[in-house]
Amino acid sequence: MNNSGSKSPKSSTPTKPTPTTTTTTATTTTTTEHKRAKKSPKSFATLYGTAWKADKTSQLVNQAISLGFRGIDTAGQPKHYNEKGVGEGITAAMKANNLSREDLFIQTKFSSIDAQNFADIKHPDSKPYCHSDPLDVQVRKSVTNSLHNLNIDYIDSLVLHGPLRTYDETLQVWRAMEREVDEERVDNLGISNCYSLKYLQRLHSDAIHKPQVVQNRFYEESGWDINLRQWCRQQGITYQSFWTLTANPQIIHSAPFVKIAQKKQIVPESMFYMYLIQRGCQPLNGSKTPNHITQDLEFVKYAHDPNDNEYKLTKQELGIIGGLMGDTTDL
Ligand SMILES: NC(=O)c1ccc[n+]([C@@H]2O[C@H](COP(=O)([O-])OP(=O)(O)OC[C@H]3O[C@@H](n4cnc5c(N)ncnc54)[C@H](OP(=O)(O)O)[C@@H]3O)[C@@H](O)[C@H]2O)c1
Repeated sequence: MNNSGSKSPKSSTPTKPTPTTTTTTATTTTTTEHKRAKKSPKSFATLYGTAWKADKTSQLVNQAISLGFRGIDTAGQPKHYNEKGVGEGITAAMKANNLSREDLFIQTKFSSIDAQNFADIKHPDSKPYCHSDPLDVQVRKSVTNSLHNLNIDYIDSLVLHGPLRTYDETLQVWRAMEREVDEERVDNLGISNCYSLKYLQRLHSDAIHKPQVVQNRFYEESGWDINLRQWCRQQGITYQSFWTLTANPQIIHSAPFVKIAQKKQIVPESMFYMYLIQRGCQPLNGSKTPNHITQDLEFVKYAHDPNDNEYKLTKQELGIIGGLMGDTTDL
């Protein structure tokens, strides 16, 4: 089969705005006019990951969108992400490809003090907030900073980068994130690095705006989050994987996996992304190499296609691959 010359994957078609939407705050329930329709994270098969791209960020984000990515993942965490570069890349790509804001799903994160390294930041303007700010102010400032960096007026998904030291602190931050939804600066909320199903269920139960996204490292040490992913599927939560290729060479290069890939003439790395998409996940892909991106997006498009096609993994193939991780949950 031809792995080159892929077409861009389907971008999400925004649905018509609903005239009214009920939003809630910690203390009150109000009905407000929504300016726009929220995009569901599920409409996007994969997101482009922007970590560790430093001064190449703008160029690589522009390249990724131009090659077909429509979802972008970043963070208000200067240690690992150049969020301003992401914004520049988005602006350039939108112009070059005649895209509107509604075509893109832009996700960023609130990263708590423990996930930052403020001592290394030379320019004070690069800090998303001050070390001494109370938690709710940290969230407020971080979101304002992200909107500014990304040159946008709303964020599709705001992810808490990881649970804080205590559940009480996590909930304080979540409430501040919920206020951003109430004020329509953010459309969806999520949590990352959350490997305890009980913790996730507790947050889900306490949340007024429920988590729509869970972003976790996809690796053996967490048992590939098999039970947590099953619960996410049941709740309609989008499970995003990172370290997808890096952490799983033992699966991607295993004999049963390679046999399926050869039979279907699919690049094994791309087939692993396909597997995850067909299992209801949304893999992050931070590739810098155009050929990899083109290849990955072509197969991702087949996996995300609601209709049958010759490349989609069959139930039996999904079962064999899942078996390599001990995943026996319903297909
Ligand atoms: N929430 C968190 O705490 C957290 C932590 C880490 C990462 N993330 C997010 O996840 C994103 C992705 O990071 P990641 O760690 O999963 O890794 P990644 O940046 O996607 O890198 C995976 C590696 O796979 C290679 N690759 C991609 N497609 C390939 C193909 N078809 N064939 C062969 N190799 C291929 C890439 O090489 P090439 O560049 O040469 O293609 C790259 O070296 C990050 O940018 C970030 O947005 C989040």
